[in-house]
Amino acid sequence: MEGLLRRLLALAAPCYVANATPVVVAKILKRRHPIDGGRRFVDGRRILGDGKSIEGFVSGVAAGTAVGLVLDRAGVLHAGEALVLSLGTMLGDTLGSFIKRRLGLERGDPAPLLDQLSFLLVALLMYQLVYGGLDALVTTMLIAVTPPIHLLTNHLAYRLGLKDKPW
Ligand code: CTP
Ligand code: MG
Repeated sequence: MEGLLRRLLALAAPCYVANATPVVVAKILKRRHPIDGGRRFVDGRRILGDGKSIEGFVSGVAAGTAVGLVLDRAGVLHAGEALVLSLGTMLGDTLGSFIKRRLGLERGDPAPLLDQLSFLLVALLMYQLVYGGLDALVTTMLIAVTPPIHLLTNHLAYRLGLKDKPW
């Protein structure tokens, strides 16, 4: 039981930190560069939109990996694992926006489950591809607890004035 919780927290920490960091960075850095360079897809809509910046992506990967360095020292996760999880998180978040734009949703529009899980699912998929050995129970628990935690922390970020929308 203790090992399970330890594993769950070790995997979640880099993902959650990577996912949350761009919100803070966007608040500090007023001039950001959209990943899609402002370009549009064949459907005429933005490829990703202004909510996905290079600064946000890079800071997310860096912050998640930095958490990994601490966890590495504590002996619960290797820094490389945190890097893969953080990169997967930001790629998943970006993919989520790509899908939202294709569905005709504007930047910041809510997309239930997609908003809360795309980052985690791609992070876990990448982790599994690179390292393997993901436990079914830990994976299921992570997928189950992440949407409510995400909704709660986003609401908190909204109340703190960090986000424009409470989701
Ligand atoms: N952010 C960023 N760069 C990223 C990811 C996020 O700058 N790669 C910042 C943006 O300011 C964004 C905020 O973090 O508005 C919240 O992220 P998110 O909710 O994922 O973006 P949305 O604005 O909701 O856009 P989308 O509809 O594309 O998800
Ligand atoms: Mg959003």
